[in-house]
Amino acid sequence: MKNDTLPQELIKQAIAMMKIAYVPYSNYPVGAALLSDGGKVFCGCNVENASYPLTICAERNAVFQAVAAGEKNFKTIVIATQNGGAPCGACRQVMVEFAPQMRVITVDAQGQVFLDTTVADLIPHYFGPTSLTD
Ligand code: THU
Repeated sequence: MKNDTLPQELIKQAIAMMKIAYVPYSNYPVGAALLSDGGKVFCGCNVENASYPLTICAERNAVFQAVAAGEKNFKTIVIATQNGGAPCGACRQVMVEFAPQMRVITVDAQGQVFLDTTVADLIPHYFGPTSLTD
């Protein structure tokens, strides 16, 4: 994936989302921009809560918004953080439910790419929809 063209517009949107993240507890803003197969972009940021476990991550926020808008097929997600950090396990699990082959790009606040991979590569031997029936 490293040599593929970078989706600069998605990168910009993910970084913009970092700026509106609600992170009074961790001070670790995360922004996500998710491109559906239909060509729509869904954005998310992390939203924390005084009751800490209620926090929602940026990636799941974006995926849930997309599903609520009727989109379940995804091409690419860009995740922006201060340090280009990788998505957490919970977000990997939610992403793989819909899009094992989705491209996952992590960038820092300057747009430098740290990871350019797929969901399936981030969560090998995953438990997915067919695990319940096969
Ligand atoms: N966070 C995300 O938004 N996405 C991830 O994949 C990792 C963690 C958020 C949750 C919390 O608001 C902050 O980053 C620190 O864990």
